[in-house]
Amino acid sequence: MKIGILGIGSYLPERILTNKEMESIVDTTDEWITSRTGIRERRIAADDEATSDLSYKAALKAIEDAGIDKDEIELVIVATTTPDYSMPSTAAIVQDKIGIRKAAAFDMEAACTGFVYALTTGYSFIKAGIYKKVLVIGADVFSRILDWEDRGTCILFGDGAGAAVLGEVETGGYLGGDLQADGAGAQELIVPSSGSRKPFREEVLTSRDQFVKMNGREIFKFAVRAFPETTAVSLEKAGLEIEDIDLFIPHQANIRIIESIAKRFKQPMEKFYVNLDKYGNTSAATIPIAIDEARNEGKIKKGDRLLLVGFGGGLTYGSCILEWSK
Ligand code: ACO
Repeated sequence: MKIGILGIGSYLPERILTNKEMESIVDTTDEWITSRTGIRERRIAADDEATSDLSYKAALKAIEDAGIDKDEIELVIVATTTPDYSMPSTAAIVQDKIGIRKAAAFDMEAACTGFVYALTTGYSFIKAGIYKKVLVIGADVFSRILDWEDRGTCILFGDGAGAAVLGEVETGGYLGGDLQADGAGAQELIVPSSGSRKPFREEVLTSRDQFVKMNGREIFKFAVRAFPETTAVSLEKAGLEIEDIDLFIPHQANIRIIESIAKRFKQPMEKFYVNLDKYGNTSAATIPIAIDEARNEGKIKKGDRLLLVGFGGGLTYGSCILEWSK
């Protein structure tokens, strides 16, 4: 049985925060942000918008694009680092908002690799014969966990959501993939006061440990190491060469990471989809948003082979190769 994406959709909040505006928030410049990251602006969720709201809007579009009845969905997975609550899961909230009766629902935390992890999990459930259709969402509202006094992190991220309906396809679909993690690097990208290790207390307000802490240089080095490593495994599993990939959909963290990978693979930048200039790093949402936009721009056609590659906190990384079926 071939398993692939039946429908895709995304949602970006309306509010645009430009680099110029960033200059009045932290000690930075448009020039620094653009030259070091490639980011020009990002979207920020409205005060009353949480991760489930963004997820819901992306999911509706994916379901419509798939042309299925919502009640055919038997499992909802939301990949996120910024759930509405630690309990209940954001997936359960989204399941209720959409009005899917009885579908199983759970969240998945693999930071910026979340969508690749969730897609692989959804694929595996279908492959195992447990479910026929799975809704997979990557969504994050990082603006809520950013330290808006830390210029090293707050300039990088934005809010957004992307969703895909997985199911049986006639041609193409999932050709091979790989998931990996290096927990030894857990401290390099962390929200220290977000769980049982350091529960939120008044003193946290002084340490600002409720916000993202990142060792940017280490994450950069990890990304350029992890990307080729996981790509090699996916290519081998799919029985393909790098030249067989029509479009690379990399996690949108930093243009310099993508450029260095293109150079290493000896592939032209035109083969790498980039929209981080408009949205920054939307964490688990970057890959499904990029697939949706690339498809809408006519950059993906039936039979094209896409390589999705994620990397991020955990440290997690992973990739998969999809042949577009629609
Ligand atoms: N504006 C101006 N100056 C800045 C800013 C800013 N926004 N941020 C840092 N600087 C300064 C630093 O203070 C430093 O100054 P110093 O030399 O006087 O100490 C100087 O710029 C250089 O800092 P570096 O950290 O070395 O800058 P670098 O070129 O490495 O760029 C960056 C930093 C953009 C964070 C880069 O390291 C990066 O992109 N890393 C990867 C991050 C990433 O991909 N994270 C997402 C992972 S995905 C996930 O799971 C969430």
